[in-house]
Amino acid sequence: MATDYEQLRREITWERAERELGYREGEPLNIAEICVDRHVEAGLGDRLALVHEGHGGEIRQFTFRDLQQLTNGWAHFLRGDVCIRPLDRVCLFLDKVPELYIGFLGVLKTGAVVEPLFSAFGDDALVARMADSRAAAIITQRRHLGKVRKARERLPDLKTIIVVDHDEDGKKLREGEADYHMMDHREDHFPVAATYAESPSVLHYTSGTTGAPKGAMHVHGSIVAQYLTSKVVLDIREHDVYWCTADPGWVTGTSYGIIGPWSLGATQVVLDAGFSSDRWYETIEKHAVTVWYTAPTAIRMLMKDGVEPVKRRNLTSLRHMCSVGEPLNPEAVRWGHEAFGLWFHDTFWQTETGSIVVTNLPGMPVKPGSMGRPFPALSATVVEPKTGIPITDVGRVGLIAVKPPWPSLMRTYWNNTATFYGKFLNGWYICGDQASLDAEGYFWFCGRDDDVINTAGHLVGPFEIESALLEHPAVAESAAIGKPDPLNMEVVKAFVALRPGFTASEDLELDIMNFVRKKLSPLAMPQEIEFVEKVPKTRSGKILRRVLKARELGQPIGDVSTMEDD
Ligand code: WT7
Repeated sequence: MATDYEQLRREITWERAERELGYREGEPLNIAEICVDRHVEAGLGDRLALVHEGHGGEIRQFTFRDLQQLTNGWAHFLRGDVCIRPLDRVCLFLDKVPELYIGFLGVLKTGAVVEPLFSAFGDDALVARMADSRAAAIITQRRHLGKVRKARERLPDLKTIIVVDHDEDGKKLREGEADYHMMDHREDHFPVAATYAESPSVLHYTSGTTGAPKGAMHVHGSIVAQYLTSKVVLDIREHDVYWCTADPGWVTGTSYGIIGPWSLGATQVVLDAGFSSDRWYETIEKHAVTVWYTAPTAIRMLMKDGVEPVKRRNLTSLRHMCSVGEPLNPEAVRWGHEAFGLWFHDTFWQTETGSIVVTNLPGMPVKPGSMGRPFPALSATVVEPKTGIPITDVGRVGLIAVKPPWPSLMRTYWNNTATFYGKFLNGWYICGDQASLDAEGYFWFCGRDDDVINTAGHLVGPFEIESALLEHPAVAESAAIGKPDPLNMEVVKAFVALRPGFTASEDLELDIMNFVRKKLSPLAMPQEIEFVEKVPKTRSGKILRRVLKARELGQPIGDVSTMEDD
């Protein structure tokens, strides 16, 4: 049945979502209570919440009652033994193990702020984020303990490291380290902290062009938006088996890999294993996945193996498919239709927006290559970069802008209110992406408005990479840009000027690459290093990445009047 967009704009409102969640303004509100306790109280304790499949194919299942008892046990431990207080920051540094999901919700029950960190981060990436947030505790597993200990030397505020899989034969725990086996501690009751719609909940760090990563601060009330978009955009219903392929180290993995789907009482599948197209199809088939949320790079990787492996499986359980994180090319949408008989629905949003803001809606015609239209409960458009005035001409490129407020808009950047206020112009929140609108109001993505690199749907900040490069003994100057890549959209390319006494070589290139991988993450590792005499800079010392990028793409270099003389 075709959906009338204008009718949806009248019907889909935040107020309606609040009513459905049983929330009344001014009353306490806690994400974990809504995602877990509410379902148990409604008699749905036996419903499957999490189906977790590990590397070796071992499957563990958790009902909503399991989640309730385990999050209660964990919250008791945090409050009683670790002395975590409301508003303390507690980091999660875990692979996609069940403890990550339980850990997330348990922290929220205590009223503390949960700070998810991607488990492939190196010690410098950890320090940048944990020093800024002054985190009190971090929960991790043995295999990451070495990195956390190294980071700890630079983190005076970090009081406790909690290890979820410690065993007596392994490394001895030190002072300030605790062992907590989540699965061994269940409690029927926990007095959930009195949090409200505006109480801080999740702190997600995201990279910008300049400076260290910024912590987007979200509040418990964000669940109103994550609930409504999960229902209306992802089309999640209570008996669905839903699979979000994102890691909760990134916002997709929390907003739509924890909060949204569980607020609707759906069953979530988590696959904690490396990518392989056959393993992915097997996952859909085995668990009878009905709704699937993934990313363009993954879709392109599936495409490489063709339609044949799809056809060998019975994937008829699938009802709806969505994509996020980077531009979804029209070929990928068409291929998806050929392979699955369904359209990938592209969705657009950011760490800062907390929930989907521009999207293709179920039942609405998909235009391959377009991100769709504003989510019906909010207003979004494209505006003139300088004035913030909405652009009315069809096809003219401007900046994507969303009208504040909406429930899941970040409330600030932690420690950085000036940058937060800088994101608003003429009464609009400015996303920092360029797009144009067509005659029917569909958004067409053009590119980012800054130098942030998007590799396989993950943002990496050039400044962080450049800083890491400068710590290498051979590096005098550095610059990092995103180089177009057919699979990953962009990969990191670095330009390096060497210190006297060092000569460019393949060995040195590899050594520098690995150096960045260890300090930051495999995503931030340059795939290519070009050795240069000097890095182009403005007279005031700002790196001219735009010049390097234009050279790389063989495009005109543009205005270089501020460039340093050679
Ligand atoms: C940036 C936000 C929010 C989900 C994960 C990423 C890019 C996001 C799309 C899309 C083209 C997209 C934008 C945006 N992006 N979705 N559908 N088409 N680009 O969150 O790490 O905060 O990244 O990802 O550049 O600003 P994030």
